[in-house]
Amino acid sequence: MIPVNEPLIGEQEIANVLDCLRTGWISSAGKYLEQFEQAWASYCGMRYGIAVSNGTTALQVAVACLGLQPGDEVILPTFTIISCAQAITYNGGIPVLVDCEPRTWCMDVTQVESRITPRTRAIMPVHIYGHPVDMDPILHLAKKYNLSIIEDAAEAHGAEYLSGRGTNSETWRRCGGMSDISVFSFYANKLVTTGEGGMVLTNDPGLAERARSLRNLCFRHERRFYHTELGYNFRLTNLQAAIGVAQVERMPETIHKKRWMGESYTQRLKHLHQIQLPIEEPWARQVYWMYGLVLDEATGMDAPEFAKRLQAEGVETRPFFLGIHEQPVYTERGLFMGEQYPVTGRIARQGLYLPSGVALTEAQLDVVCQVVEKVLA
Ligand SMILES: Cc1ncc(COP(=O)(O)O)c(C=O)c1O
Repeated sequence: MIPVNEPLIGEQEIANVLDCLRTGWISSAGKYLEQFEQAWASYCGMRYGIAVSNGTTALQVAVACLGLQPGDEVILPTFTIISCAQAITYNGGIPVLVDCEPRTWCMDVTQVESRITPRTRAIMPVHIYGHPVDMDPILHLAKKYNLSIIEDAAEAHGAEYLSGRGTNSETWRRCGGMSDISVFSFYANKLVTTGEGGMVLTNDPGLAERARSLRNLCFRHERRFYHTELGYNFRLTNLQAAIGVAQVERMPETIHKKRWMGESYTQRLKHLHQIQLPIEEPWARQVYWMYGLVLDEATGMDAPEFAKRLQAEGVETRPFFLGIHEQPVYTERGLFMGEQYPVTGRIARQGLYLPSGVALTEAQLDVVCQVVEKVLA
């Protein structure tokens, strides 16, 4: 079986973890935490990094930093993981959805303005499967309506976006480095992994301070074990950060590998007209976090059936997200009633992703492509 993901753990990661074990710095204090936070923030072009236990808790902290009032609205794509919506719900806010667009599968930015109301406080763009969202229109709307942006770059480590295109101030900016506050996941299938892990990034010292406090039970400085606010224990360990430090150093190599993987898949699969492949917009440098396919409905097959046939030939896959608007946890509470998101609806049924881990070999990639071709034949 060719697994959908296999992480690449090098000798440096092992040496760093052994260093933690030998010196006893195994909990949430230690030199690797600070190094990891600084290295990742600086890689993404942000000033402050606050490492947390995973990407879901990073979102929880980032939304909590906004201080939403009950009923405040946050606009996000329906085509994303539940973590995005639930961070809003847990913080008393209301998730307001837009569809994704059919080429990149990222938030359709042309739909955002029509969803803004007097209760809107923030927009949450999510860079999907390694391709950046078209951020300039979002940045423009945030300024026009005085909204915050929480950028979810969990799936887009190192991906870049050309901002200011068509002007004389065109600049390539990294995903997670373009907004008030951004979040990352370092789960085992991410380009940088710490096993489980996450981070909040910001340029704002006030937001950074607030995120640090929320991460660690809102301890007050003036007296230990004294609290005036509710916080969380969302701390990352030095052991995990030790892995992250080594992984960040390898980012140029990892991106090179991922781009090779994405381009090789495209080369070998582009003649198959029954599947839509990932693209790269001219204003994007994508990192192919996961290599997704959307199967044409004319094949008479949906993604679960396609996945079953690929599995039978030894290729593991994962289905695309199911839209937030179809999640029973929300619809049973009466949210999103009657709302239609046709692009998300279709790709949620017809989409899956192929083995895409950093450790994927050329031989495995060849086998995957042969199997895809065989199943479609
Ligand atoms: C876009 C996005 N945001 C947030 C998360 C949550 O991250 P985690 O699994 O580390 O909680 C994920 C997980 O893959 C994700 O894809």
